[in-house]
Amino acid sequence: MARSVFVLTGAGISAESGLGTFRDKDGQGIWARFDPMKLATPEAFTRDPDNALGFYNLRRRNLLNAKPNAAHQALARLEQALAERGGHLTLVTQNIDDLHERAGSRRVIHMHGELLKARCQHCGSVRLWAEDLSPSDVCPDCGRVGGLRPHVVWFGEMPLFMDDIDRALRRADLFVAIGTSGAVYPAAGFVAEARGYRVRTCEINLEAADNADLFDEERLGPASETVPAWVDELLGA
Ligand code: OAD
Repeated sequence: MARSVFVLTGAGISAESGLGTFRDKDGQGIWARFDPMKLATPEAFTRDPDNALGFYNLRRRNLLNAKPNAAHQALARLEQALAERGGHLTLVTQNIDDLHERAGSRRVIHMHGELLKARCQHCGSVRLWAEDLSPSDVCPDCGRVGGLRPHVVWFGEMPLFMDDIDRALRRADLFVAIGTSGAVYPAAGFVAEARGYRVRTCEINLEAADNADLFDEERLGPASETVPAWVDELLGA
């Protein structure tokens, strides 16, 4: 059995919790309805902060009404079971939601940041933030107005924790990508890196991702079914 497992999750794992995905084949994804260049870039925030913050306020409210599903729960179970057997799960997510944590995952690496945190562009402080954000908010740390933004990675910004992620990929013996389209780098490149480190690779997705041919194994279906089944199999249930 694999002892050091690296899991990368994307929007597909939270789809059955009612949070939309970004790209889907029927053209209903978030980025088909909203223009990311007007909402999810540092320039968009500077140009029209009300518009950018309003988009994330809506997403934050949706998140507060959502619940983790069986796929999130299965990964929390996997983390605990591997730890009990002397193994380790590295869970890296591109998602800015907190559904992994609410399902019981202890350590989650949010490479694209977290929606329930705000960061001040003036002083850099990061705080838990479950309320709407507005351009008139005052930073509780430096007292300046207009700098608070969601603690999320926008287009043109560097994803977080890349050194930790690379170290974990190197020492993994299994890499599994769940519910991600393989369209956004650097996460889309992890499978090629894993192969370079001779790590076995598996894709779990509703439909084959853009980079599906790079995986050793593919399991297609809704995450709420495929992920618990894979975890059971891995743990030898
Ligand atoms: P995408 O929306 O690009 O891809 C979602 C994937 O989930 C697709 O491959 C779907 O087939 C799959 N999917 C949908 N429903 C599913 C289900 N019930 N079970 C399993 N899989 C399902 O989302 P990401 O790959 O996560 O970045 O997108 C990557 C990044 O692009 C996001 O983090 C975001 C976005 O721009 C930023 O905002 C910086």
